[in-house]
Amino acid sequence: AAAAAAFGAYLLCKSTGGKNGRVNKTIDKDSPKVVHSFDVEDIGSKAAYCRCWRSKKFPYCDGSHGKHNQETGDNVGPLIIKRR
Ligand code: FES
Repeated sequence: AAAAAAFGAYLLCKSTGGKNGRVNKTIDKDSPKVVHSFDVEDIGSKAAYCRCWRSKKFPYCDGSHGKHNQETGDNVGPLIIKRR
């Protein structure tokens, strides 16, 4: 399982093709690690979180993944959390 995860990370780096295979090109680059934390109680009825690292409203999805996918042939999209 660890080897599969490592291979997945390798493929992601290779497909994004950034400097040193970096996924994050613009967000909080002065920070050693970009982390966001939310309390479940504070999430409304629905929230979409960016997983492509291209959103201007990061960590929220703003639809920028569509342009990224079109330009790179990638297939990434947001994490959507909904209340039932
Ligand atoms: Fe990044 Fe939608 S903008 S997943």
